[in-house]
Amino acid sequence: MTDQVLVERPDAYPGVQVIRLNRPEKKNAITRDMYAKMTNALTVAGSDPAVRVTVFLGTDGCFSAGNDMADFLAFAMGGSMGTEVIDFLKALASAPKPVVSGVDGLAIGIGTTIHLHCDLTISSARSVFKTPFVDLALVPEAASSLIAPRIMGHQRAFALLAAGEPLEARDALEAGLIWKIVGQDAVEDETLSLATRLAKKPPEALRIARDLVRGDRSDVLARIDEEAKHFAAQLKSAEARAAFEAFMRR
Ligand code: COA
Repeated sequence: MTDQVLVERPDAYPGVQVIRLNRPEKKNAITRDMYAKMTNALTVAGSDPAVRVTVFLGTDGCFSAGNDMADFLAFAMGGSMGTEVIDFLKALASAPKPVVSGVDGLAIGIGTTIHLHCDLTISSARSVFKTPFVDLALVPEAASSLIAPRIMGHQRAFALLAAGEPLEARDALEAGLIWKIVGQDAVEDETLSLATRLAKKPPEALRIARDLVRGDRSDVLARIDEEAKHFAAQLKSAEARAAFEAFMRR
């Protein structure tokens, strides 16, 4: 089976570790195993001085369709949720070095909220960001309910997180969810070049600057836990199970 998460350190982009979602046949939907692999890569990046910046990428036309629906359904049917998702979210929220992302195309659920934890996100114009949590009888995750209103204000955060309205790249730029829009063929190179420029900066000064800009993260970590309690309860609800079954039946 192809590796569904590729972790690479390309020679052409020194100091950069790439975490690539690589399950295009399922629109890069993220399974528990994939979360675990990403957590491991973030942990390694945090302690290895050879890695100065982490980059998240997807595949052509698709960043990610979000959490794997089959995993959601398995939990709704009484299975264990495991700790993979929460471990990943916490590793991401407390990553000690810069995290950059490049998006081309679909960015759904965690495929959108992951960028709230990135320091810089580059996107193609055709990208669409969407979090249909409530339509699936779920609630916002990844501390999005805290971070999104801070960066884009209540109305835009509500439209995204509660109403499930899609956010086109131009609007995502205006809302502060992403940093820059580039041509779709340039997303990867621009993202990796940007990460390489960051990787060349004096690491300690960059670390301090980043910490100052991001501020204390304890409220973010606490919100991840608070959301997760509601999320887990809702996952077990009859309305959520009906939504997952409807998706699997299509
Ligand atoms: N989990 C598991 N599988 C998924 C998935 C997900 N989140 N999203 C897409 N897939 C799978 C589909 O089941 C399909 O698999 P199949 O070919 O074996 O049937 C494959 O990816 C292609 O998806 P498809 O729906 O045919 O592509 P599309 O271009 O018509 O639509 C989406 C793409 C992303 C709009 C649609 O698949 C979708 O709505 N996915 C669910 C997104 C979601 O709600 N995620 C959870 C957020 S909290």
